[in-house]
Amino acid sequence: MVGTADAAEPTEAVDVCVVGAGGAGLYAALTAAREGARVVLVSATPLAQTSSYWAQGGLAAALGSDDTPDLHRHDTEAAGRGAVRRTVATVLAREAPRAVHELQELGVVFDHDERGELALGLEGGHGRRRVAHAGGSATGRRVVRQLSAAVVEEPGIKVLEGARVAALWTTREEGRCVGVVCEDGRIIGARATLLATGGAAALWSRTTNPPGSLGIGLLLAHAAGAALADLEFVQFHPTAIIGVPGREGFLVTEAIRGEGALLLDAGGERFVQELAPRDEVARAIVAKLRSQETTHVDLDMRHIDPALFPNVVSALRDHGLDPVTQLLPVAPACHYVMGGIVADLDGDTTVPGLYAVGEAACTGLHGANRLASNSLSECFVMGRRAGLAGLDEPVLPGQLPPAPAPSAIMAPSRETRTALWELAGVEREGEGLERLRADPHPLARMVAACARHREESRGAHLRTDFPALAPALDGMHTVVRGDDPPQLERWP
Ligand code: SIN
Repeated sequence: MVGTADAAEPTEAVDVCVVGAGGAGLYAALTAAREGARVVLVSATPLAQTSSYWAQGGLAAALGSDDTPDLHRHDTEAAGRGAVRRTVATVLAREAPRAVHELQELGVVFDHDERGELALGLEGGHGRRRVAHAGGSATGRRVVRQLSAAVVEEPGIKVLEGARVAALWTTREEGRCVGVVCEDGRIIGARATLLATGGAAALWSRTTNPPGSLGIGLLLAHAAGAALADLEFVQFHPTAIIGVPGREGFLVTEAIRGEGALLLDAGGERFVQELAPRDEVARAIVAKLRSQETTHVDLDMRHIDPALFPNVVSALRDHGLDPVTQLLPVAPACHYVMGGIVADLDGDTTVPGLYAVGEAACTGLHGANRLASNSLSECFVMGRRAGLAGLDEPVLPGQLPPAPAPSAIMAPSRETRTALWELAGVEREGEGLERLRADPHPLARMVAACARHREESRGAHLRTDFPALAPALDGMHTVVRGDDPPQLERWP
């Protein structure tokens, strides 16, 4: 039966409905199904358009003999500039090694050194080598492919490819989420609904992200009454290609700087510690672009073994840029939104029955500046936790309310994307943010409201009119509920 907009009868009734087929969604679906749950996995985009698939970074996990989860937690907190939620960072650091082992059991082959040990890479802000890669910079692609194959073989999972969720279905009294409504009118009832829809960095005009990273899950959750938080904390990756047609915004992984690549200014001089946390490196580049009145700095990886990063090298060569003989023109681009749907340690949101994981969620793990490669680890650690927690939700009520009519989710105009880049980019200030608050796109307005509300500079949030960090705001999160102005809240 095909459901209609006002029917109370779902097209499908399952235990868990997972929305999004990147790393977090695939892993949550697999985890729940392996516990015996009936799962529907709704995926709007083909695999190759998820952020996880594009991920060049790896999984950060304390696996080295000189490393501990405590050191990993410490680096996560230091990078996050006083805004990381310690409980979540502790869980991530403790459970990330297991995530790597579980992926190995699922058939993911991580890179090994000549002694047969897991080869651990170094990235900005990490005090130890702790980033596990698969195929050099092809980690996301390899992991997503392997998980997709496992999902297809799992009898408990039904995949709805090319289906777009247009609304979350909630009960009137409790506001409990009982499933989703798709654009084509299909209604899926579920005890637990899990949003793993990725981030929103493609809302900014200059981005490293696939075009679908538009914060769809955030908009769905907000419309269903869920709280969002920390939308002012947006990470700009320092080294995205600029000025090369067909490769605009292409990310040159930080792991290459981990192997010794250098950043050079217009005079050929080094100007920043290349492995400082990302907020520092991006800021130093922007200052250099301004002082030297240029559009890019250069990344020099001519002395790096190209065999370590085969897909970066071939993607650049395809567009006439040979990293073995040429300097690469790079500048910051929007890469990752630390904010998102407020979620707790099991991905549970402020709406009962609704979970959020991966970049769509804001657990407070990343604070004001995400530590490199923590996000893929987060996808698997939190994907697993949410996949299990969803199984404890009560069965669907016998009497379900009418499902909402599906409505198209607003796409950002070119003007909105440019405005976000110009007014809520690496640097922002109150007057520009005030203008952005009048943007037609709801998420752009919420980003502006959060960024306007936080009158300080912290991590990736650099207010030129409030250049100092305000210690009173340590540990405070900017929370948006409905149309109310943002509130600063301290999370346990
Ligand atoms: C990178 O490889 O530089 C990006 C990885 C990440 O965003 O963590």
